[in-house]
Parts: sequence; structure tokens; C-alpha cells
Amino acid sequence: MVLSVKKLDPTNSIKPLACCISLPTHSLSLSLSLSLSLKRNYRKRQKSLLHSIFMDDLWVHIISASFVLFLLFLFKLQRSNKRNLPPSPPSLPIIGHLLLIKEPVHRTLQSLSDRYGPVLSLSFGSRSVVVISSLSSAEECFTRNDIILANRPRLLSSEIMLYGNTTIGSTSYGPHWLNLRRLTLKILSPHHLAGSLAVRLEELRLLVKSLHEVAMAAAGGGGFARVELRSRLQELSFNIIMRMISGKRYLGATVDAGDAEVGMRFLEVISEHFELSGTDPSDFLSALRMVADFKGRERKMEDVAKRADVILQGLIDELRSRMKRSNGGREVESKTMIDSMLSEGYSDDIIKGHILSLLIAGTDTSAVTIEWIMSLLLNHPNVMKKARVELDEVVGRDRLPNETDIHKLPCLHNIINEAFRLFPPAPLLVPHESAEDCTIGGFNVPRGTMILVNVWTIHRDANVWDDPTSFKPERYEGLKGDQAYRLLPFGMGRRSCPGAGLANKAVSLALAALIQCFEWERVGEEPVDLSEGTGLTMPKREPLEAMCKARGCMIANVLAQL
Ligand code: HEM
Repeated sequence: MVLSVKKLDPTNSIKPLACCISLPTHSLSLSLSLSLSLKRNYRKRQKSLLHSIFMDDLWVHIISASFVLFLLFLFKLQRSNKRNLPPSPPSLPIIGHLLLIKEPVHRTLQSLSDRYGPVLSLSFGSRSVVVISSLSSAEECFTRNDIILANRPRLLSSEIMLYGNTTIGSTSYGPHWLNLRRLTLKILSPHHLAGSLAVRLEELRLLVKSLHEVAMAAAGGGGFARVELRSRLQELSFNIIMRMISGKRYLGATVDAGDAEVGMRFLEVISEHFELSGTDPSDFLSALRMVADFKGRERKMEDVAKRADVILQGLIDELRSRMKRSNGGREVESKTMIDSMLSEGYSDDIIKGHILSLLIAGTDTSAVTIEWIMSLLLNHPNVMKKARVELDEVVGRDRLPNETDIHKLPCLHNIINEAFRLFPPAPLLVPHESAEDCTIGGFNVPRGTMILVNVWTIHRDANVWDDPTSFKPERYEGLKGDQAYRLLPFGMGRRSCPGAGLANKAVSLALAALIQCFEWERVGEEPVDLSEGTGLTMPKREPLEAMCKARGCMIANVLAQL
């Protein structure tokens, strides 16, 4: 019997039997044990039978599923060949190419376009995306197809945090956008910018003054001081834009406590905006919107939107009552952007959305640009020296630079261009969407496709640029008109950046003053790390710190007088 049981299952029946044999007198227990052991063995056999059947089945399922997927792939390939869509890497059902997309996204897309070509199609979940990575295709997008591609995709973040997609940067092409664009171009027109020159010069003076104070306090006066530049540059660009919008500065030493508190809350909200903006997974897989984790993200967006709204409403109410006070209840002639929007009868929501858009679009981009340029110059001290010689010749050593000097500073201009080429603050521009079927680079692009223009790749194209990854501002020397290289840091066409004029002025002026007034050195021997961090604008991964010393020749006549 023992043997027969052992035969049933030689591996598993030994233990219970051995234990029963050691107790021969307990026949009941013996028979119970035997019957239990038999049952167990029977179950195990059943299990292993089931297991083998299941495994066989599983293989059949796997093979059939792979076959179906293969057929689907062939079908898709054939269909896309027939539809003449841009080339595309193999994708997974439902999620498409989402798993391929890693940070920094512009670099991932660059390596995909190296393999599949400059017009590449991808699926981000349910969304079709076309990535443009050559200058000629980008030009095609923003000349022949400019109106067709002037829409913006509807994203959850802009729905919640940008007043239901009604702001200038998020709303699609149409009368509302045209109206906001007209207003923005007016505020940022050369005429208006000339009117706000005093604001930029004042903010520049305050930046230089604060750096001089830090440098003078270091090492017993007049030595090199270690300074963190990012926050100072953010303060500069935030104040410039805020003063044009509301007529008031909100950050810095001379600001009263209440306004400084508002300014800090504003910066906080803007940085949270950046964190939550853009690619929310549920924009691509709508089913995810039901999942609790992503709901958490949505709640965060709602919280940021509410906090931003409170600050913005406060600004409008303050301006409204200031207007009434200054004119006995009647509207006065417009001065700031809020004044002019109030007097043109825009609703509070549209005004709030517009303030937010300009702050979001203008603060970080300009600050990030100056930070990249300073980092590049610290790694190329000879180029910094050349720019300083030019500044000494054109501006001299008795005054700070002014905007009228800028067009006389080609070396400075080349440095800025080269930094925009290597580190465009918006490496994928802002996503566009096709309003109709169109063709790009000979491929069909269906209506409703999201278009990403990879300016990062275009600016580093070895067919266009010699030694494309090196910082060489001299490459632009002597180039004129058609000869000049085409750079796209501000985009192109209808939706290109309306703040380009202001940004160029603010960046040039700040850079000129930093180079003219101070000597700069790296904190250590190592070159400044130029890796990119993640974010909507492409920041430097580590905030820039540098050693800063007032130039002796600038102290008496300029720095000491500020
Ligand atoms: C270095 C600084 C800046 C850079 C590199 C930059 C770049 C860009 C880019 C690439 C776009 C998207 C273009 C497209 O969709 O194809 C854009 C849009 C925009 N920018 Fe700028 N920008 C800068 C500064 C500013 C400033 C200072 C302002 C205003 C105060 C501003 C306001 C806007 C607005 C309102 C839009 C949306 C335009 C629309 O959708 O119609 N930008 N910018």
C-alpha cells in the first residue's frame, strides 16, 4: 500500500506516510492520513494536469494574440502607407509610443527623428502627434500651413489653470485669439516698449546695485563674492513684466512687506503652474482621468488655479479702485495693461488669464536665457573678454548701457544668438494642432494632429551648422540678410512669440550690464555643468552660481552712484 501510494506520487507522499508508519497502532489515524494524502496527491495531479492544459492554452493564446497583433501591425502599416502618413516607430496598442518618451523629451525626439526622419509620426495614447525636426519642414509649417497649424491642442492643465483655454497662448485660432493677439501686440509694440524703457533701466540699476553691494561686502570689500544668479534674474524679469502690467514692482529690497508677500505667492504659483502644465497623462489616455492617482493631480491643478485667481483678482480690484480714486469715479486714460483692458471692457476672467499668460510666458524664458548665456561665458572666458572690450569701446566706463547702444554691439548680439541656438528656452515651441488635413514634407498630416517642432534638433543640424554642438558666436560674423542663419527660439508665423522684442531688449541690456560692471569667474576649476533640467521652459539643471567682483574702473563713476 505504501508502495502503491509512493507510486502515485513519489515526491509528495513520503512525509505523511512516514509519520503514520511511526504510529502503527493508530489504524484510524493511518487510514485518515492515507486518505488525506491520496486526496492531496489527487488534487496535485489535477492541478498539474490543469497547469499543463492551462500552459498549453496560454501558449495558444500568446501565439494567437501575437498573430493578431502582427496582422494589426501589417494592417496599420499598409493603411499608413496608403494614407501616406509620416514614418513611425512600432507602437503598442492603446498607449502607442508613450513608453518611448523619456525626459528630456527634446533629446528623445531627436534620437527618434535621427532614425525615422525629420517628419515623424507618433501616437501618444489616443492622440496623433507629428514631430518636425528640419528647418525646411518647420518653414513649411509656418508659411504654407500657418493658418491650418495655428490651433492649440486642448490640454487638461490649460482647461483648469488657464481659464478654460481662453488665454492667448492656449486658445485656438479664431476671433477671440485674434483679439487677444492684437491687444498683446499693442502692449508689446515698439511704441509702448519705448514708453516703458524707464522701467527696464530702473530694474537693471537695482540688479547691478544689489550685486555690487554683495561684492563689496565680500572678503572685506572689493573681493570676489559667490552669487546665485537664477533668483536675481527671475526677480528682474518678473518685475519688468509686472510693472508693465500693473504699474508696480512686487519683488526686491525696496518693496513693502504686503506687496513682497503677493510677489512671492505669485512666483510660487507660477512655478507650480510649470510643474503641472503640459503633459498630463490623462490628456493622452482619457480613461486615466477616472483613476484616483490622476484625480490627485487634477485637484492640485484646481488648487493652483484658485490661489492664482485670488492674487489676480486682488490686482484688478486694486487697479480699479486706484483708477476711480484718481478721477473722482470716472475712468482715466490707460497707462498699464490692466488699465487698458479694463477700459476696453474685457471681463475680469479674460484680464486675469492675460496677466497670467504674460507672466508665465515672459518671466522664466528671459531669466533662463540670461542664465544659459552667463554659464556659456563662464566656460568661454575669451568670449566674455571680447564682449567686454566691445562694451568699453561703445558704452565706455562712465555709465550703464542703454537700449540705444544695443544695435552697436554685434559681438554681444552674436553671443545671444549662439546661446539661443544651443539652448532654446522652449525646445519644442508650444504644441500646435492642425485644424484641417494638410501635407508636411510630402506626408499627409490629418486634422487634429498635435505638432511638435523640435527646435533643439533643428538648431543642432549638422547639415546646416559646422561643429553644431560647439559654442562659437564668431560663426555669425559678417553674415547679412539671406546669408544669416535662421534661428527659431521664438517660433515663426502667426503664433510666434509676441514678446520677442521685449525679451531681446531685456536680455541684451541685462547681459551688457553684467559684463560691463563685473568680473566673473567659475566657482571651482570645473566647467559649469550645462545639462538641462526638466520643465516647460528648458532650465539649466543646477541653478547657476558664480564668483562676482566689481570692476575697479566701474566703481567710482557708475557703481558707487547707483
Ligand atoms: C527669451 C524669452 C522668450 C522666448 C525664448 C519665448 C519663446 C516663445 C515661444 C517659442 C512661443 C511659442 C511659439 C509657437 O507656438 O510657435 C512663445 C509664445 C508666447 N510668448 Fe514668448 N518667449 C519669450 C519671452 C516672452 C515675453 C517677455 C513675453 C511677454 C511678456 C512673451 C509672451 C508670449 C505669448 C503671449 C505667447 C503665446 C503666443 C500665442 O500663442 O499666440 N514671451 N514664446
